[in-house]
Amino acid sequence: MPNFPPNFLWGVSTAAYQIEGAVHEDGRGVSIWDTFSHTPGRTHDGDTGDEACDHYHRWERDVDLIAELGVGAYRFSIAWPRVQPTGAGAVNDKGLDFYDRLVDALLERGIAPVPTLFHWDLPQALEDAGGWLSRDTALRFGDYAAVVADRLGDRVGRWITLNEPIVHLAEGYAFGRHAPGRELMMDALPVAHHQLLAHGLAVRALRERGAAEVMITNNCTPVWPAGDSEDDLVAAAVYDGFHNRLFLDPVLTGEYPPFASGLADAGIVHDGDMDLIATPMDALGINYYNPTRVRAAPDAAPLPFEIVEIDGVPRTAFGWPVVPDGLRELLVGLRDRYAGALPPIYVTENGCSTVDSPEADGRVHDVERIDYLDGHLRSLHEAIVAGVDVRGYFVWSLLDNFEWAEGYSQRFGLVRVDYDTQRRVPKDSFAWLRAALAEQK
Ligand code: FCB
Repeated sequence: MPNFPPNFLWGVSTAAYQIEGAVHEDGRGVSIWDTFSHTPGRTHDGDTGDEACDHYHRWERDVDLIAELGVGAYRFSIAWPRVQPTGAGAVNDKGLDFYDRLVDALLERGIAPVPTLFHWDLPQALEDAGGWLSRDTALRFGDYAAVVADRLGDRVGRWITLNEPIVHLAEGYAFGRHAPGRELMMDALPVAHHQLLAHGLAVRALRERGAAEVMITNNCTPVWPAGDSEDDLVAAAVYDGFHNRLFLDPVLTGEYPPFASGLADAGIVHDGDMDLIATPMDALGINYYNPTRVRAAPDAAPLPFEIVEIDGVPRTAFGWPVVPDGLRELLVGLRDRYAGALPPIYVTENGCSTVDSPEADGRVHDVERIDYLDGHLRSLHEAIVAGVDVRGYFVWSLLDNFEWAEGYSQRFGLVRVDYDTQRRVPKDSFAWLRAALAEQK
C-alpha cells in the first residue's frame, strides 16, 4: 500500500441499528427500522435488528478489536430513540450513558470517536407525525444534536450530522425499499430540504458547543452515460443532479440544483434556510461504493433514466460493480466541480460484501475484500497525489451486521460475526489491513 500523508486518519465505520441490538433496553424508544423490519415481507428472511451483533452488550470487546486493528478513529452512530425515545423532549440518560462509556473506552485506547447523529433510525413517534416530510422533524433534530453535544462534546471533537440523506430519501421515501417504506417518488422531495435544514441546525448547535470539526456524509457516485447520445448525456446529468448534487450543492453553494428549485415555490424553503444549510463545514464525508451507468429511458416516468449494468468488472456479493478507480474519479471530479468551496474530505465509508466460507477453525479467507480495499486505497492515494485534500479513510465495516433490507445476508465486516453465538472472528482482511497500517510511515 502506498504511503499516506502524516496524520492521515484511519478508521472503521458502523451504525447503531445495524449492530447494537438491545432494542428494548434502558428506555430506548421505537425507531422506524424496528417497525419496518417487523413488517412481513420487508427484509430478507424477515430479519430484524432486535439482536444484530449484540454490540450494546459486547461493546468493550468490539472496542478492543478496533484497537487491535490499529486504526486511529471509530465512526459509529448514535441512536436518536435511545437518547430521546419519542424524538422530542425528555432525555433518556441511560441511553446517553451507553455512548458516554463508549467514548471513554475509545479515548482510553487512543481512538478518536467520530459519531454520526443520524444513520436512518428515526424515532417512530416522529415518523407518525410526518417524519422527514415535516419541517418539525428538522427542528427536533437540532434539539437532539444539542442534547448529545452537551453530554459528549467535552470529549468528542469531530461530528457527522447525517448519513447519506439521498439514500434515506430515495430508498425510504421515494421507492419504499427501506424504512419508513413510503413510495412517494417525486413527492418525496421535501424530505431533502428537511434533512438539509436538520443538518444546518445541527452544525449550528454543535459549533455553539465547541465542536472542532463538523461534516455531513453523502453517498456519491461517478455517473457514466451509457452511450454518447445527447439523450444519454442528459439522463446522466439528471441522475447526477439527484444522487450527487441534491445534497452537495446546497451545503457547499447555498443553492439547489435547478431540478429542485421548485422547493422554494412550493413554500418548503423558508427565508434564511439556505444560509443555515450552507453554514461552512470543516470537512465533508464521502461514502463511495461504485460508479453508476445511466441511460435515457423516456418511458420510465417520472424518472427519465434507468441504471444499466457495468460490464467486464468484478462484482461484490451484493452484485455491486468493483471499480476502484471510480474513487479517484469521484474525488477529482468533486474538486473540479466545487473548487474553493470544497472542504477537506474524509472517505467515511468504503468496502464490500463477500460470500465468506469459514474454514473448520472459523478463519475466513476473504481475498476479495483484500483486493477491494487494496485497489481503493491505491486509487485514493492517486486522488491525493492529484491534489485532492483527503484527510482520512474509514472501512465499512468493522463487523458483519444487519444490512438493512438485505438483513444478515450481506457480510461487509473485517470481522466475521457468527449470529448464533455472537462470536467475532477477524477475517484475513483484518490481518491484512493491520499489517498495511503498521507499515505506514
Ligand atoms: C451505505 C450505508 C451503510 C451500509 C453500506 C453498505 O449506504 O450507509 O449503512 O449499509 O451502505
